[in-house]
Amino acid sequence: MKDKNTFYITTPIYYPSDKLHIGHTYCTVATDAMARYKRLQGYDVMFLTGTDEHGQKIEDKAKAAGVTPKQFVDDIVEGKGGILDLWKLMDISNDRFIRTTDAYHEEAVQKIFKRLYEQGDIYKGKYVGKYCKPCESFWTETQLVDGKCPDCGREVQDAEEEAYFFRLSKYADRILHLLEDTDFLEPRSRVNEMVNNFIKPGLEDLCVSRTSFTWGVPVDFDPGHVVYVWIDALSNYITALGYENSQYHDYDKYWPADVHFVGKEIVRFHSIIWPAILMALDLPLPKKVFGHGWLLLEGGKMSKSKGNVVDPVILAQRYGVDALRYFLLREFPFGSDGNFSNEALIGRINTDLANDLGNLVSRTVSMAGKYFEGGKLLEEQAEGPEDAELIGLCAGLRDKYEAHMEKYAFQDALMDVFAVISRANKYIDETKPWVLGKDEAQKPRLARVMYNLLEAIRICAVLLTPFMPGTAEKIFAQVGADEGLRTWESAGRWGSLPAGVTIARGANLFPRIDMEKELKALEELEKKPEEQAAPQAPEKKAEEPKAPAAPEYITIDDFDKVKFVTAKVLACEAVPKSAKLLRFTLDCGEEFPRQILSGIHQWYEPEDLVGKTVVACTNLKPRKMMGILSNGMLISAVKEEPDGTEKLHLLMLDDAIPAGYGLC
Ligand code: ME8
Ligand code: MG
Repeated sequence: MKDKNTFYITTPIYYPSDKLHIGHTYCTVATDAMARYKRLQGYDVMFLTGTDEHGQKIEDKAKAAGVTPKQFVDDIVEGKGGILDLWKLMDISNDRFIRTTDAYHEEAVQKIFKRLYEQGDIYKGKYVGKYCKPCESFWTETQLVDGKCPDCGREVQDAEEEAYFFRLSKYADRILHLLEDTDFLEPRSRVNEMVNNFIKPGLEDLCVSRTSFTWGVPVDFDPGHVVYVWIDALSNYITALGYENSQYHDYDKYWPADVHFVGKEIVRFHSIIWPAILMALDLPLPKKVFGHGWLLLEGGKMSKSKGNVVDPVILAQRYGVDALRYFLLREFPFGSDGNFSNEALIGRINTDLANDLGNLVSRTVSMAGKYFEGGKLLEEQAEGPEDAELIGLCAGLRDKYEAHMEKYAFQDALMDVFAVISRANKYIDETKPWVLGKDEAQKPRLARVMYNLLEAIRICAVLLTPFMPGTAEKIFAQVGADEGLRTWESAGRWGSLPAGVTIARGANLFPRIDMEKELKALEELEKKPEEQAAPQAPEKKAEEPKAPAAPEYITIDDFDKVKFVTAKVLACEAVPKSAKLLRFTLDCGEEFPRQILSGIHQWYEPEDLVGKTVVACTNLKPRKMMGILSNGMLISAVKEEPDGTEKLHLLMLDDAIPAGYGLC
């Protein structure tokens, strides 16, 4: 039985395939704030995050990088500047970290798969459909949007093979009831999306194994099949607690999860497939799935860069982790999309953090230090007419905040705290401590004014702890709040601070940023290709300044191994049934024409390329695509567009250059 006093919260587990950008940190920061809030309230919290390491995408990337898939993911997860380092930097307080390549998880997934097979919820059939490689998602024809992946808008591939299927259709009624008649999925708008797009058109059984690649959890009773990456990934939420394994023993204590936080594009997996799997396993369902929105860059989904710096490491280094955490949860309503920009970030830091919070703390603490010897307030204090409103606001703050937090309305919770901060600043203007300070007889009144300010700051700092843990600690030290005055309980009790409190002046919390200068500096930063272009590279460079590692040069001999030759396009045609591939017949100055396939149909019509002079790599190991042999590779210039799509130009040379010339 799940313990009432426990709180189990999860983030999605991340694909260690690309460098994580600020959008990725959004969900983890939100989960962290929620976990810290629940701990503050006294819950026994289990906060799980991790990495989702299997699948074709990872296998392909590893191959391209010339390493094994395990080496590839090890580096991105545990290597310097990897995902673990990023979460440390972002002050993420996860209690557990799961990697889907962990042996205990893999074994548990095999057991789950086998059990579902043995009881008839998984059966063997034939899969015909579409597959989106970047998303690792199967789609039926009807789910495509303009023939493309409904999630990312990219090309999908035909897929047909012997495969295992999960009887998703069997659970359609129960899932419909779960979505429509309970508050399992939030925000509510996502329910309509799921019901209209996936359930109403008819839930089809789900293909849950693959044979076209090997980087996955093997189906132990049928060699050659690996478990579909989403079955593998979703299971993490229970295997990480010890379900079907002996690595951990917390399943009974924490399951069902109180909430899974997930991005909106993976709500389908969490609100339809995941509950169906749990139903099949006869396990309790998570209490809630919350589908948050995306951070967008000028309206498009975030990718590496678009004139804005989106690298969380760079941003955290420039502005501090807490400023970044605060911005993410204050700027955007959690359930909706929001536009990220460096300008908005700096604006928030300047107004809320430097002007309002930072100023309040530094004014208060410096006045208290100036007017009272040793920073210790006079214990004899006098009330005044300005006090009631501020005290009333503070006294009611915790409950209002709690109501918002329980609905994951982080923005509203923060707005309420900052309303008190603004009110406190106004209270300073009203009470004019600098005037009171001139009159010895007003000392008791001045002491009371200072006390009220310190107490307001303390209560706000307790409630800001989940969002800005480091800053809250600094504030506590300045206003003289020891451990007992940092608790949830004390945040609901006005007057907890002792009358004779002693303050300790500290450094300015948030220096103001010169917006114009800073935006220019960021722009410059963005121009340096090495800062943004290479996945994983920047942190490594940043952290090894003294003994610069030797650049990864290749020798002239290495270079000579690759054979590039000039080639004339003799013929070019589209490959039937492929949206991408063109088949080239090339004169490479050899005895026979050479055939090379190239996935560039999206950008070129075949007839336009005949007669052109291009560059081919001719000693690449031949490989088949769509059953046709490609004997080399054509060289193109590639650029990733801000929306994640690629733009590509086939490298063409002056036609006066003959065929078969080597490049050096
Ligand atoms: O989806 N704004 O992993 P992932 C907000 N492995 N959130 C964003 C974002 C943005 N611009 N970009 C990404 C996966 N995210 C699976 C999860 S769970 C069993 C398996 C969020 O690395 C995204 O919405 O592609 C998702 O919730 C998370 O980052 C991880 O994405
Ligand atoms: Mg994704």
